[in-house]
Amino acid sequence: MLKLVVLISGGGSNLRALLEAAYDAEYPARVVAVGADRDADGLEHAEAYGIPTFSVPFTSFPDRAAWGDELLAQVLGWQPDLVVLSGFMRLVPPRVVQALSPHLINTHPAYLPEFPGAHGVRDALAAGVDQTGASVIVVDDGVDSGPILAQRRIPVLPGDDESSLHDRIKLVERELLVQTVLDVANGTIDLEQESHA
Ligand code: GAR
Repeated sequence: MLKLVVLISGGGSNLRALLEAAYDAEYPARVVAVGADRDADGLEHAEAYGIPTFSVPFTSFPDRAAWGDELLAQVLGWQPDLVVLSGFMRLVPPRVVQALSPHLINTHPAYLPEFPGAHGVRDALAAGVDQTGASVIVVDDGVDSGPILAQRRIPVLPGDDESSLHDRIKLVERELLVQTVLDVANGTIDLEQESHA
């Protein structure tokens, strides 16, 4: 059984999808804790499933490294097999990436390497593309630059705004995330191999 720690910053709809999937006894992964870098609404999904939560507020630390060290200590306390950044809207310090890599994955609302960064949906709309996508990647030291584990194209429809497009992207992200975690758990995806490819 793959033990997951999920880190969020916002509403946690992708987290909720993972919690729903993991509620099925047949699914080979369990969320053992959910952490956040702020007072994230999505923590309530964990609480609804009786999953412990923790918060490491970025603003409570003198610098990113000190914050990252505490975040890492909290995460490691749960002895996870895999850490999932699911709408975690902060760059994770290199020391944390090194400690968890390659067992650290991230969802992103674009077809990487297109539109990396904090505004993947907005940037795709601003570029006027007729399709964007969703991706799940291994986290490395860059910004959304790690090995791609899964991704799918999503059309940009006439009249789309950031919210409508992001909502459609998230529907796909949820499927990709649940499938990717399943693939890691059953060995179809070998993270060590992916990160050395
Ligand atoms: C998701 O679309 C996720 O890919 C994105 O934030 C959203 C979180 O939604 N993450 C990033 O943009 C990271 N660069 P959720 O809180 O409803 O799961």
